[in-house]
Amino acid sequence: MYYFSRAVNSVHSEDIKRLMRQSSGPDLISFAGGMPNNDLFPIQQIDEIYAGLTESVKKSCFQYGPTSGHPALLSSVRQRLLKKGLPDTGNRLLITTGSLQAISIITQEFINEGDVVLTENPCFVGALSVFETYGAEVHGIPIDENGIQIEKLERKIATLDKKPKFLYLTPNFHNPAGITYSLERRKKLLEYLDGKDIIVLEDDAYSDLYFNPEHESMVRPLKAYVGYDVDIIYTGSFSKILGPGFRLGFMYASPEISEKAETVKQALDACTSNFMQILASEFSNEHYLDPYLAYLRNEYRERKSMLQHALNKYMPETVQWTEPLGGFYFWLRFPKGFSSTELFERARVRGVVFVTGRTFDPHNERDNCLRLAFSNMPRKHIEPGIRILSEEIRDLL
Ligand SMILES: Cc1ncc(COP(=O)(O)O)c(C=O)c1O
Repeated sequence: MYYFSRAVNSVHSEDIKRLMRQSSGPDLISFAGGMPNNDLFPIQQIDEIYAGLTESVKKSCFQYGPTSGHPALLSSVRQRLLKKGLPDTGNRLLITTGSLQAISIITQEFINEGDVVLTENPCFVGALSVFETYGAEVHGIPIDENGIQIEKLERKIATLDKKPKFLYLTPNFHNPAGITYSLERRKKLLEYLDGKDIIVLEDDAYSDLYFNPEHESMVRPLKAYVGYDVDIIYTGSFSKILGPGFRLGFMYASPEISEKAETVKQALDACTSNFMQILASEFSNEHYLDPYLAYLRNEYRERKSMLQHALNKYMPETVQWTEPLGGFYFWLRFPKGFSSTELFERARVRGVVFVTGRTFDPHNERDNCLRLAFSNMPRKHIEPGIRILSEEIRDLL
């Protein structure tokens, strides 16, 4: 008999473990994994980069580094953030071991058991599992195709007896909903939050993966908007643009928040892998990153179009979705009463898997929706997978 802490009781963490188990197998057509495609990784460039390092830099790859991050990577990330319009003063950058660690650090910084965190509904399940692990009381606010519903946010805040510690948002190429906040919704949200003293945790893991250069201006981060009194902690990741195996992310926040974050990180892992930081900074500084991103955008746009085409061809009319402008996901919505968990059981028998809607609901209830990821599967699986899924859907509707 073990006396485990309450931290091990996250429902969403259990969901993630179960899904990982059920969703991998050599014979499965899997729309489940929200990860990049193995065949697209820049293996050769990384070989060349490592081979070209001086012996002293190679040695420092194996060494501990500063908690805040490797100086060369800090400077190249900072340059990229400035290009996205983020303010160059009044903030500090911290490199983290994946952006999930940034979310976890921020949660540890602010959350005592029972504190309130507001999220979107649906919400990235990894963040939900972090909030639950640290004992937060999580309230999900519905989103529509333009972003979080401000009236519902307002109503929720009015009914709470505690001030939320922060509001967690993913405005660009949402995981799982595939939506991107409209410019109007971004402004309205900032106007609403102006002076309310509610911290925003802005998760921007996907904004480099737009399908069309025309949409680059749509992904301007909330933190880049000026003239609003809203404290925004911005997080980003190398996972979707270089590979999750690098475990590299970052947070950009006020000096006070960053300083405390560094204290938390010191106790977690002291520093992020120097090895990975050096490879990633060389990859950015040697001008590999921009052409590689152009290549990825093209690849994912093509996969997205194939999935969109198959959905149009096979899905019944009552199934709805929003065409994503970037990122990895389609979010299918079904009439009330539909259970994506039941669909999952049937589709799995026929060798097709996805992630059920309930998984992304902070309250673990809403199940008449599901997530399809097109990033990680061979192209030839897309059409047969959707055909099988649509047959099972028609049967259940
Ligand atoms: C919205 C969102 N944020 C953060 C992450 C975590 O990324 P990382 O690998 O950097 O921890 C993911 C990964 O799926 C994600 O979808």
